[in-house]
Amino acid sequence: MVKSIIAPSILSGDFADLAADCRRILSYTADWLHVDVMDGHFVPNLTFGPPVVQALRKHIPKGEAFFDCHMMVSEPLVWVGDMAKAGADQYTFHIEATTEPAKVAAAIRDAGMRVGVSVKPKTDVSTVYELVDQGAIDMVLIMTVEPGFGGQKFMGDMMTKVKALRARYPDLDIQVDGGLAPDNIDIAAAAGANVIVAGTSVYKAESPEAAIKTLRASVNRHL
Ligand code: DX5
Ligand code: ZN
Repeated sequence: MVKSIIAPSILSGDFADLAADCRRILSYTADWLHVDVMDGHFVPNLTFGPPVVQALRKHIPKGEAFFDCHMMVSEPLVWVGDMAKAGADQYTFHIEATTEPAKVAAAIRDAGMRVGVSVKPKTDVSTVYELVDQGAIDMVLIMTVEPGFGGQKFMGDMMTKVKALRARYPDLDIQVDGGLAPDNIDIAAAAGANVIVAGTSVYKAESPEAAIKTLRASVNRHL
């Protein structure tokens, strides 16, 4: 049985004091921190990498928060060791970024992290079936915007992918990422998503706590 997991993207936070900002968002009862790593190559934007994740981990030790790392990088295999050392709990790579997805998935698990695999909006969801069938994957991330930037509009037509996945895998963690908000969460939750990334809609909310509560209640209603 999957459970509801709300993972605010720290990309929308206040980078002037990242640790304090992450602690604040956790205090609003977030379950995970969604850590968006971008390499300026796989996506047209740059954020941060293992050194910043490691620095953040020093302030927020393992057990206090789950670091859900979304790796928007061209060479996912290269960063597995460094991210594990930095304290990542989960490493989500993009299926489009590698010709050896089984090797990447195995390396992530060998390094002691949970394994996520992500598909961009134009990528067919069936590209990850073989990996999931092999038991190599803990979570599939369905992108609901083109990766690279926060604050974009939720693509509702991606829900056909979520529905197909949920029908095939009742116990799989299915994450959606991009434009999720209290006013569209029901669409994603009804399709079968149980792990919800939300940046703008949580950080810019008048009450981030209320926003997280609404997201979680919707997922729980549809489990
Ligand atoms: C986009 C990132 C997302 C994004 C979420 O490439 O993967 O995690 O920052 O932010 P919102 O919720 O604002 O779309
Ligand atoms: Zn993300």
